[in-house]
Amino acid sequence: MRNRQRKSSALNFDAGYRSSVSFVLWSLVGVGLIVCFLSFKHHEDSGQNRVYFSHLPSTRELEEIEEERFRLPPPHKVNPRAVKRRGPRKQPKVIEDYLDESSAVHALFFPDQRTAVDPTKRGNDSMYFYPGRVWLDTDGKPIQAHGGGIMYDHKTARFYWYGENKDGPTYQAHSKGAYRVDIIGVSCYSSKDLWSWTHEGIVLPGEPRNVTHDLHKSKVLERPKVIYNDRTGKYVMWMHVDDANYTKASVGVAVSNSPTGPFTYLYSFRPHGFESRDMTIFKDEDGTAYLFYSSCDNTELHVSPLTMDYLHITAAMKRILIRRHREAPAIFKLQGTYYMITSGCSGWAPNSALAHAADSIMGPWGHWETLVLEATGFSD
Ligand SMILES: *[C@@H]1O[C@H](CO)[C@@H](O)[C@H](O)[C@H]1NC(C)=O
Ligand SMILES: *[C@@H]1O[C@H](CO)[C@@H](O)[C@H](O)[C@H]1NC(C)=O
Ligand SMILES: *[C@@H]1O[C@H](CO)[C@@H](O)[C@H](O)[C@H]1NC(C)=O
Repeated sequence: MRNRQRKSSALNFDAGYRSSVSFVLWSLVGVGLIVCFLSFKHHEDSGQNRVYFSHLPSTRELEEIEEERFRLPPPHKVNPRAVKRRGPRKQPKVIEDYLDESSAVHALFFPDQRTAVDPTKRGNDSMYFYPGRVWLDTDGKPIQAHGGGIMYDHKTARFYWYGENKDGPTYQAHSKGAYRVDIIGVSCYSSKDLWSWTHEGIVLPGEPRNVTHDLHKSKVLERPKVIYNDRTGKYVMWMHVDDANYTKASVGVAVSNSPTGPFTYLYSFRPHGFESRDMTIFKDEDGTAYLFYSSCDNTELHVSPLTMDYLHITAAMKRILIRRHREAPAIFKLQGTYYMITSGCSGWAPNSALAHAADSIMGPWGHWETLVLEATGFSD
């Protein structure tokens, strides 16, 4: 992710508690969508929060195939000055509204904990998930796993949710800098049912002292994702690694013998020499894994198969969703079709997610459906 406006606007309030809650919210909204997709259940609610998955079409009905619509410019033709001249894209009004404490929208983003989704509570609420509420772990603390990814582990027959722990103060490193929370580390939670999550601790901590280290607390670690490698028996984590000004734009790799860590950080690099910002990894049924990353100033995504040990990328790479300005990719496969959900580039602020579908994971990826999370909006 890289959006200075997001950071400078989204975190423009003083108490660390509130920012923690907001981050928890984003996580739970995102995971809520994942859960919805896993169950593929059309959820109707008489309340304000409704998720629409209207008419689920087959891939035959793909409306748009990007390569037909967009001619692909060679990468060096992109002129950053031209991008700058065009100026920042206009932000929807809701982006400002949700920070305004007096607005009706605000309460949806910053709820108190009285209505929290609480796995320890008995009664009719049991096993229900409510978008727009704080989600507690089995210790009763808000889940801290932002920009997260969920892996099912066959060995332990559990789900593991990895994400950024943002339970620290929000500040600006310098007057023009992005609002930030120092790297605390990657949190891990385990679950048997995707609803009740037990904190397994910080499985990859930030580095408190060594300022040259990629994970020094003054830097940026976002979107940790873990997959298991059946050949090596290792759990491999990929993440977005950046400096505080988002100029490094690299992927980082870490590895562990256990799903609950500790993970050993290996290195970072720019895949194929390109910027890599929001990213994810996806392990296919045949054991091949892929890296998806937003690149070229977030104008497009790239997809590349990983090596057999999942520790590097291969030379193959395809550019997808060109000039679509999408980020926060999440991939899943259902009945032989690949699906990808992406957000627009409005930072933490809400925007409508898009779903894309493909018969081949390397593309072409078509536009499949717009997902609208009414009232709360949906973002990264
Ligand atoms: C659960 O719902 C039923 C029916 O709506 C209601 O009668 C009962 O009081 C509820 N129980 C709790 C613990 O909320
Ligand atoms: C600090 O981190 C760098 C980069 O990871 C590493 O090369 C160096 O050995 C570290 N220094 C110490 C004192 O650990
Ligand atoms: C970020 O940018 C600011 C102002 O341009 C500069 O003072 C600072 O040193 C930069 N920090 C890093 C980590 O590059």
